[in-house]
Amino acid sequence: MESPHKPKPLSTNLFFLFLLLSTNLLTLFISTTFYSSCSLNFAPPAATATATIAPAVTNSAPEEVIVSDEYRASSELPPEFVVFTSPQQLPFGVNSNFNSDKLIPPVGRPCTLFRDELRRYMSYEVNGSCPDDELLAQKLLLKGCEPLPRRRCRPAAPLAYAEPYPIPVSFWSTPSDSSVVWTAYTCKNYECLINRKRNQKGFDDCKDCFDLQGVEKTRWATSHAGDGLDFSIDEVLAVKKPGTIRIGLDIGGGVATFAVRMRDRNITIITTSMNLNGPFNSFIAARGVLPLYISISQRLPFFDNTLDIVHSMHVLSNWIPTTLLHFLFFDIYRVLRPGGLFWLDHFFCVGDQFKDVYEPLINSIGFERVKWVVGRKLDRGEELREMYLSALLEKPLKNSW
Ligand SMILES: *[C@@H]1O[C@H](CO)[C@@H](O)[C@H](O)[C@H]1NC(C)=O
Ligand SMILES: *[C@@H]1O[C@H](CO)[C@@H](O)[C@H](O)[C@H]1NC(C)=O
Repeated sequence: MESPHKPKPLSTNLFFLFLLLSTNLLTLFISTTFYSSCSLNFAPPAATATATIAPAVTNSAPEEVIVSDEYRASSELPPEFVVFTSPQQLPFGVNSNFNSDKLIPPVGRPCTLFRDELRRYMSYEVNGSCPDDELLAQKLLLKGCEPLPRRRCRPAAPLAYAEPYPIPVSFWSTPSDSSVVWTAYTCKNYECLINRKRNQKGFDDCKDCFDLQGVEKTRWATSHAGDGLDFSIDEVLAVKKPGTIRIGLDIGGGVATFAVRMRDRNITIITTSMNLNGPFNSFIAARGVLPLYISISQRLPFFDNTLDIVHSMHVLSNWIPTTLLHFLFFDIYRVLRPGGLFWLDHFFCVGDQFKDVYEPLINSIGFERVKWVVGRKLDRGEELREMYLSALLEKPLKNSW
């Protein structure tokens, strides 16, 4: 096994740094170029975009300065990080699929901006136990170091792991406390999580979600009378021919009750979630549906035109920078198949933001409206002028242009 401390040849380092730098420049260029146009006009013409990127990249190549700067920076990178991210020689030489004789393993570009966290994250004994550092890992990831670098160690695991309940009992049972490593969370068992909406002051993401006998019990089960913002799953599925919604994604899906309900209808849903002060991913997995540990910033790991449905409740809202949201909506559009549904469930914003920013932004993506309900959000007081949008959008069958 290769030692993590073996010094890399200088040429390898330089090559790696040059690549790192070109990527940085390109990204910087893209973000500065499009930030302004996006906030004024949501649809920068793609053709112009490509035309302007190409010359800018070729023009900017003061290579000597670049390499030496980057080399200095790189010498401070954790050795195990350099081992993972350095170009790796393919054993059988040039591979036509990669169009190269090397592989360059990916990590999030911002990883190297957070040297201290990265150093701590990548400090471990190779082939040993990883530190019990879930909080550190998630912090790094949420800062933009996504995907995190792979590590060559074994993750912390519960001392006496309890295997999950069998399906279908697992769907609505609280899993054993012994299926979770609790270090990262305020609560140290499920009872505490179930009771925290009563016992704990302050905000927590999805604070009442772990109580499967509480609000989760009725979510999406029926369309509630009243403001019309709560669509039921059956009312949504009724929009399409029976059986044609089969696979999909729930973005920021809490404890995956949406996926569990869809599974009752033979629909497979993957639920993305972070572990924000709660073992969301372990809980989702223990229920017997699939968790996916990616943030809302990461490109969705699905191919174009493949999913039947994408759902998201509460998460996609005005806390997300508008430019990021613009990219995100296009990514959802990309992964949905023609005729696929985007259920934007309780998107929220404040007062004029809706008419001024979000309605034009959502309209600009190219979805067709199937349902569109706007209502007041009153839970924090009328004077805040908060609004909800629940929308069911369909990717048109004919959508190439
Ligand atoms: C890696 O660790 C395992 C478990 O501790 C051990 O059995 C194995 O010999 C180690 N392998 C190497 C190459 O050190
Ligand atoms: C789900 O699939 C099973 C097995 O194919 C079938 O028996 C059942 O009726 C289906 N349920 C629904 C709601 O379609």
